[in-house]
Amino acid sequence: MKTTHIGLLGLGTVGKGVVEALSHQNTVVIDKVLVRDVTHHHSNLPLTTDIHEILDNPDIDIVVEVMGGIDPAYEYLATALQKGKSVVTANKEVVARFGPKLMAMAREHRQGFLFEASVGGGMPILDALTWHLNATPIHAVEGVVNGTTNFILDQMEQGMDYQAALQRAQALGFAEQDPSADVDGWDSARKLSILAGLAFHSWIDAENGYVKGITEVRAAHLHRLKEMGFGVRLVARAERHPSSIGFVVAPTVYPLGHRYLKLAGSQNAIGIFSDAGTTWIEGPGAGGLATATSIVSDIQRIRFSVPDRDPIQFESLPVENINDAYLIF
Ligand code: NDP
Ligand code: HSE
Repeated sequence: MKTTHIGLLGLGTVGKGVVEALSHQNTVVIDKVLVRDVTHHHSNLPLTTDIHEILDNPDIDIVVEVMGGIDPAYEYLATALQKGKSVVTANKEVVARFGPKLMAMAREHRQGFLFEASVGGGMPILDALTWHLNATPIHAVEGVVNGTTNFILDQMEQGMDYQAALQRAQALGFAEQDPSADVDGWDSARKLSILAGLAFHSWIDAENGYVKGITEVRAAHLHRLKEMGFGVRLVARAERHPSSIGFVVAPTVYPLGHRYLKLAGSQNAIGIFSDAGTTWIEGPGAGGLATATSIVSDIQRIRFSVPDRDPIQFESLPVENINDAYLIF
């Protein structure tokens, strides 16, 4: 079987997970790893700080991006596609902002562009949403899609204070480089854009939706609510309306026993509501090795499939705020 050559951009929480997961695949090799500073890493891997050693290397088939951020990640991914390399990314910021553009570039250059790891960490949600669950019209997509805030709220309910819980989530590698993306709700909003885009074929700019994070939730609130039989989770929901998309990210109150309140640590749960019924997918929403399983699955899909299938045509429907309908904290 032909060996597939990878250029890996980033060697942080997820990058290290990818290295570990690929160590079990003997026909996939990592030719180069891009980092900001090689002196930070004690590794036998072929490290570089020069992106051209990856983009200009004709042997590299697939660029795997796990750096994060828009700049320079978007430019690197666009250049990789233009140079005839397939791309796999975990970067929801880039996918939420430039997903349709990168998909079009990939088609033009007959390459793969896959991003399963960008939503739900190690859960197989985007593939299911794009193909299996899209056979009948989807009405809504809803879920806990951020592991850091689930972890923080879970720990606060058990008595830890907010700052200590956030620091623990950072130490465990769940949080973004700038954790305000997690706690202010923007990481969830970006993921909801991607979910809504694939569910409704209308790509949403998260900036147009109602987005509220968890920074105003205090331990005392959670304890009082718990005594009354309730808990809080940061929930993201998008709905297909006749000529718009409802979009909300907000800390929301649920009765104890609700599936969201049973999610431990950085777990996520996402429900897809369609004519055919409701499907829930739950699993590890963050973490290096869990996220790497989605990346390796995308690599294998690119290796074994022809990426020039019929493209999805995206509309551009307006966004409607639907926060009034929910019991927002
Ligand atoms: P980290 O901060 O742990 O790692 C980022 C890596 O990228 C580091 O190795 C860093 O280099 C490198 N890097 C960053 N910017 C540059 C640059 N400009 N040039 C070269 N190298 C660069 O991030 P994570 O691994 O946690 O996350 C990576 C991506 O995966 C993000 O998009 C994140 O949103 C996404 N993601 C993260 C998950 C998680 O659980 N952590 C889960 C799902 C998705 P250096 O080491 O030298 O600083
Ligand atoms: N910071 C993200 C989270 C990582 O906590 O869910 C996974 O996308």
